[in-house]
Amino acid sequence: MTDLSLKTRPGLPEPLRALLVHYPRDGWTFHNNFDGLVAFWLDRHLNFRTLTAQMTQGAQAVLEGQLDPERHAAALARMGNRFLTELHGHHQIEDAHFFPRLTQLERRLEHGFQMLEADHVAIDGLLHRFTTSANAVLTGWQGPGQRDTTAAFLTDLHDIATLLERHLTDEEDLIVPTILHHGPGAVE
Ligand SMILES: [Fe+2]
Ligand SMILES: [Fe+2]
Repeated sequence: MTDLSLKTRPGLPEPLRALLVHYPRDGWTFHNNFDGLVAFWLDRHLNFRTLTAQMTQGAQAVLEGQLDPERHAAALARMGNRFLTELHGHHQIEDAHFFPRLTQLERRLEHGFQMLEADHVAIDGLLHRFTTSANAVLTGWQGPGQRDTTAAFLTDLHDIATLLERHLTDEEDLIVPTILHHGPGAVE
């Protein structure tokens, strides 16, 4: 049976690669339908990857004694807030607009769009953990448990970054070929 679970699937399941085989990644940027919606949407994904990488670097630097905990807390407040707000908004527009529209265009990939929607729910659960442990860093940077709270935050951040990367990659592999195939006008 096909594994659709965000936590365990190794990539986009074979039955969902029906369009990807005709639109492989290395040809995306050269396609006439790349500019505009696809480029913008991939850039949003890059933004989430960059934010998780920067937050990881910051927490690691604190643990290695190379970044002042106060400066780290200030930067994390800014980046963490951006990450949560923008990811939430991104998921909302995908759930409410993109997935229903793409399902109309490609009925045979419907269970793929449902899989991506289920990913969002799974990621939401991890975002609660992320918020709790990030807040512990923000309020506890001066306290004696500062190292432990930073290490715990780093663990939670690693977990969400790993699953988010799986989600973003599979989502791109499913959605970009669909938009390239039908044209951005069919989705907007
Ligand atoms: Fe998504
Ligand atoms: Fe997305």
